[in-house]
Amino acid sequence: MIEAFEAKTSMKQDLDAWCLVFAEGQAELSGGVVDPGVLAEQLRVGDEGRVRRWLARRAGSICGVAELRTQQHDPAAGFLRLFVTPSARRRGVGSRLLARVAADASVERIQATVLAGPPGEPFVGGWRVVLRLELHEQRLDQDTLRRCQELAIAAHPAHRLVFWQGAAPEQWVASFGRVMGHVLDAPGADLQMASRTWDTAAVRAWEAGMGGRHLLVGAVVHLPSDDVVGATVTTVPSWEAGVAEQHDTAVLPEHRGGGLARWMKARQALRLHELFPTVESVTVTVNQQNAPMLAVNRAVGYRLLRERLLVEVSTDRLKGGPRCGPALG
Ligand SMILES: CC(C)(COP(=O)(O)OP(=O)(O)OC[C@H]1O[C@@H](n2cnc3c(N)ncnc32)[C@H](O)[C@@H]1OP(=O)(O)O)[C@@H](O)C(=O)NCCC(=O)NCCS
Repeated sequence: MIEAFEAKTSMKQDLDAWCLVFAEGQAELSGGVVDPGVLAEQLRVGDEGRVRRWLARRAGSICGVAELRTQQHDPAAGFLRLFVTPSARRRGVGSRLLARVAADASVERIQATVLAGPPGEPFVGGWRVVLRLELHEQRLDQDTLRRCQELAIAAHPAHRLVFWQGAAPEQWVASFGRVMGHVLDAPGADLQMASRTWDTAAVRAWEAGMGGRHLLVGAVVHLPSDDVVGATVTTVPSWEAGVAEQHDTAVLPEHRGGGLARWMKARQALRLHELFPTVESVTVTVNQQNAPMLAVNRAVGYRLLRERLLVEVSTDRLKGGPRCGPALG
């Protein structure tokens, strides 16, 4: 049975179960960590009205969840997250959820990421592959830490490294924002995120929206100007966590090619280990076309875990077919 799910008005038991299936699915898909309790609190407060949710029940229990979020950078597209709990798979639950999402959706296109291979890739068999992404993991073991220590002592006389947790210090917030604007230089980044003005207010809003995660920023400061010219962003779940997530890394174009990113990311790994000794690994998703970022990540000990695909289908096409899988292909 498929139902629309309204987090704000749902019974607590349903909200908790929905968040648990979602968190487990998200962990399987991205290697990242979502705390179901924190998620439930966020959903209760409510979001910006660009998100719709559904659930599937079997014998009264929630066994599948779906969420469609209108893309900020592309309002004609919705980003889908759809998970079926492992014990309920291969019984058509995912297909029924997807059919309902397509019937209710008001967007023209639906996008999603899946891991290459079963079950995700065959499930979205007929969808167009927009981007090929790689999921990498850096294990913070002795080997990686030693490698990072060696890279961290590189000499960069015109630059220094600074680190902060949470809000950026006042003197760097503007130049940090400028660097964050250059994350869009990455191949395919425009397909995944909106171009935005990273002024001080935008940086402050982003910092305030971490939703139960510690924010750790490593930055390269150019000594003559005292401006941030490179930055890397890592988050750590605020509960006792073994896995951190690596997000944006950027260096201003005129400072690229000199090893600053490698230096900064090596020191960021060491800093992360010092501050959060329970964190054993860091995961990141990188576009397969982004050779410089992949090379930097390899140097600081990231290893490929899985390939992920960003896929897309027209909503009309989904409505037309009996289901989304190879039947549409
Ligand atoms: C992908 C997922 C949602 C499928 O849910 P499900 O309820 O098992 O899917 P269905 O039973 O409706 O399967 C529909 C079709 O998808 C394909 N498929 C699903 N799982 C598959 C698998 N493990 N291997 C091969 N094909 C598979 C098949 O063609 C299947 O039809 P069939 O069973 O008649 O052969 C579920 O496995 C899941 O939550 N995976 C992790 C998250 C994910 O990848 N989500 C997709 C985001 S869109």
